[in-house]
This record gives sequence, structure tokens and C-alpha cells, in this order.
Amino acid sequence: MLDRTCIIAVCGKGGVGKTSLSAMIVRELLRDSDKKVLAIDADPAVGLAPALGVFAGKTVDDVRNDLIRKVESGHAGDKAEMLAMLDYEMFSALEEKQNLAFLAIGRPEKDGCYCQVNHILKEVIGSMAENFDYVVIDGEAGIEQVNRRVMEKVTHLVLVSDASARGLNVARTIKKVSDNAVAHAHAGLVLNRVRGEAELANIRVPEELPLLGWVPDDDVIRMADIAGASLLDIADCPANEALRACLKKL
Ligand SMILES: Nc1ncnc2c1ncn2[C@@H]1O[C@H](COP(=O)(O)OP(=O)(O)OP(=O)(O)O)[C@@H](O)[C@H]1O
Ligand SMILES: [Mg+2]
Repeated sequence: MLDRTCIIAVCGKGGVGKTSLSAMIVRELLRDSDKKVLAIDADPAVGLAPALGVFAGKTVDDVRNDLIRKVESGHAGDKAEMLAMLDYEMFSALEEKQNLAFLAIGRPEKDGCYCQVNHILKEVIGSMAENFDYVVIDGEAGIEQVNRRVMEKVTHLVLVSDASARGLNVARTIKKVSDNAVAHAHAGLVLNRVRGEAELANIRVPEELPLLGWVPDDDVIRMADIAGASLLDIADCPANEALRACLKKL
């Protein structure tokens, strides 16, 4: 399953730039007009939608809650009927804009309950993903959330950190956990918001984290955020160029 789809999860400490870099990765992938990209926002705050300039409508969590209500009132039918209904509902939750589709996961579910529903939802997301060349997941925190809430299989893990020791530590922990828990083919670190070579020289990158490169602190990205502008629409800037080089390495 999913053999031809490249599934990229973007993970790291809070505030290091996961959402911005996810949107910028989508932007790079869409430069190839033959490719279709599915962007998945796994953050309950749904920050990726404005960064991509798409409307965030129904979330997977909304679909899930509808289904749970049906299960509880005895109207859900058997597994095949549930799957058919979910297929329909999930495709209606997809926001599409040319070669880009967007799906928001919504709030994290309460632990332990409705495992079957969660399992079916992941099955549907997995089969949706097969229609795309790339899936980019804005991972909120760690890869285990991605596995639990979005998809079991991740082919590329992009760890994001700022220059801080704490950011790098979180990246290292995420890598360690994912090495133990998940089969993913490639992982690499992107240092974000670096203020130049001099600062770079002071950053101690843990040796188990393969460095893909660094993205400068870029006023174009900052201003886009202030204006609420989509990162797909801004002019090419140093941050975009730097990220392009990181992706080539990945
Ligand atoms: N390379 C960059 N240059 C300038 N500003 C940046 C850059 N990357 C991110 N930012 C800014 O940093 C802030 C945090 O970025 P972002 O929201 O992408 O982080 P996040 O990791 O998704 O945060 P959260 O954990 O809250 O979801 C935003 O204001 C964003 O515009
Ligand atoms: Mg975010």
C-alpha cells in the first residue's frame, strides 16, 4: 500500500516553525505541476489552512463525532456501510485547490474510546493518500500522534528546530521515539530561523540528527504571517530557497 506516495511528517517543539515549513514544503512540491499534494493539518488549532490560503471546513474529528453518534444510536450499520459513509464524508471534508488538497484532523480524541472508529478513519485517510504523489503532515508534536491520529506509515520525517538547545533536544527525542516505534525510511533535521553563519557555528547539532540544512530567519515569512497571507502566494525569498536545498538532500 502507498508505495508510490511519499509521506512527509514535519515534527518538532512548539513554535519552531513546523506550520510555516510544512506550507513551504507544499509550495516546493507544487512547483512540479504534474504532482498532486495532500496537506494534512494534525494541529487542533488548524494553523496550516491559512498558511496555505485554503478554507478549513469540516475536520476528521467532526466526521468521527458524527459516526460515533450514529454508532450510539444504532444507525451506523455494519463495517462495510460505515466505510462507505466515511469515504463520502471524508472526501467532502477535503478542501481542494488545483493540485493541492487539504485535510484537517481537528481535536485529539479522548484516549481509549472508539478504537474501531479511529482505526477505520486511518484506513480511509490511508486510501485517500494513495491518490496523491505527496502527503505533507504538519505534525503538531511527535510522530506517535501522527501514527495514532493520522497514518501509520511515514516515509520521510522532517525534524524542525530553532537554534535553542531545547528545540534540538525535542527533535532528538522525537527521532529516538520514532526510530523505535515506526518504520520510516528517511529522517533529517532542518534548523529554522537561523540568523546567519555566525549563529550556525554556535549551534550544537546532536550527531544522531542528520542535518539537511538551515532556513534563515526571513522577514518575508514574518510579514506574511502578520498579514495572514498564504505562503503559497508570496514571492520567492531566501527561506524558500534554503528549504528547497534541504528537500533535495532529503
Ligand atoms: N524562517 C522563518 N523566518 C521568519 N519567521 C518565521 C520563520 N519560520 C517561522 N517563522 C515565524 O515563527 C512563528 C512560529 O511559526 P509556526 O507557527 O510555523 O511554528 P509552529 O512550530 O507551527 O508552532 P506551533 O507549535 O504553535 O504550531 C510564526 O510567527 C512564523 O511566521
Ligand atoms: Mg503549527
